[in-house]
Amino acid sequence: MSIMEIFKKQTALPEHFRTMSEEELCDYVTEIKAELGTKLYMPGHHYQKDEVIQFCDDRGDSLQLAQAAERRKEAKWIVFCGVHFMAETADILTEDHQHVILPDLRAGCSMADMADIHQTERAWEKLNDYFGDTILPITYVNSTAEIKAFCGKRGGATVTSSNAAKMVKWALDKKERLLFLPDQHLGRNTAYDLGIALEEMAVWDPISETLLTEGPINQIRIILWKGHCSVHEKFTMDNIETIRTEEPDRRIIVHPECTWEVVQAADYKGSTKAIIDAIDNAKPESKWAIGTEMNLVNRLIKEYPDRSIISLNPNMCPCLTMNRIDLPHLAWSLGEIRKQHIHHKIKVKDETAYMAKKALDRMLVRA
Ligand code: 13P
Ligand code: SF4
Repeated sequence: MSIMEIFKKQTALPEHFRTMSEEELCDYVTEIKAELGTKLYMPGHHYQKDEVIQFCDDRGDSLQLAQAAERRKEAKWIVFCGVHFMAETADILTEDHQHVILPDLRAGCSMADMADIHQTERAWEKLNDYFGDTILPITYVNSTAEIKAFCGKRGGATVTSSNAAKMVKWALDKKERLLFLPDQHLGRNTAYDLGIALEEMAVWDPISETLLTEGPINQIRIILWKGHCSVHEKFTMDNIETIRTEEPDRRIIVHPECTWEVVQAADYKGSTKAIIDAIDNAKPESKWAIGTEMNLVNRLIKEYPDRSIISLNPNMCPCLTMNRIDLPHLAWSLGEIRKQHIHHKIKVKDETAYMAKKALDRMLVRA
């Protein structure tokens, strides 16, 4: 389904939920959660707002949430506090009697929107003309179910930021080349760590439908889709230089969705989970600049007051689509469930789900 079709299905938040106080909304959510018990499951991504995450049954990164959703067989209602591709993944991994609800359908992901299935099919045709049957497609979970199905159908798999290295290695054992969708930075950073030189990587531009490369095309092993995260791309070399000049003892840790230059210049890089673990294991008084989403950075600042934590970019803001899930929308969703009314349900077509699950399963058995 295109992003416009998804937006059209979104209905406006009823006036009633706009006028309730925060306290009333919290009481309302708490009451319905208690009423529904284990029939309701609410997973929440680490980038969610505090007002939402406080009610989630589990917090996690995209890999942990996919695994958690699969385990909760008794939940009839899965209210996903995250973005659209995560809710789709939950729907694919859960059973038919389970309903996955996204409280606000506008909670998309700008990166996932950078690769649609039609662009991918056209790219595949052209890349096969260049390289023959030597390419395996793999996709970051931050992608539509249709792209996951595309990969599943062709023997490929999904990856997340916490298992990308393992999955790229697996994929390169199977085929000579990879098409890595849709985040060029995660693809480049991961392949580089595995010893693949930048000259062995090319970028596929889905708009001009051209392969961008400086070297001879027969040396290319990784084809990176020209997509990126609009949040993580905002961490720059200027931000790094400022920290190095003003506070040389402050350690810099960034998410691998940041550019290759920023990742190389940082002290450490790691997935959402790895960043949280690094701060958790850090010494009191240690100083950190973090290059990832702001709701998470602000939470780490609050939860670890004895460490000095700042954002690598002082002008950073949260992921705007993650922020679409707020307390009023969450309360509205739970109120609809109480009335046994299904709204903002995420349902992936059976045929797509079947193939997408193949791609997800190839990752989950190795996670
Ligand atoms: P992870 O949760 O896999 O680290 O991904 C980060 C992200 O951008 C989620 O949208
Ligand atoms: Fe998408 Fe980036 Fe937001 Fe993650 S942080 S949901 S990749 S836009």
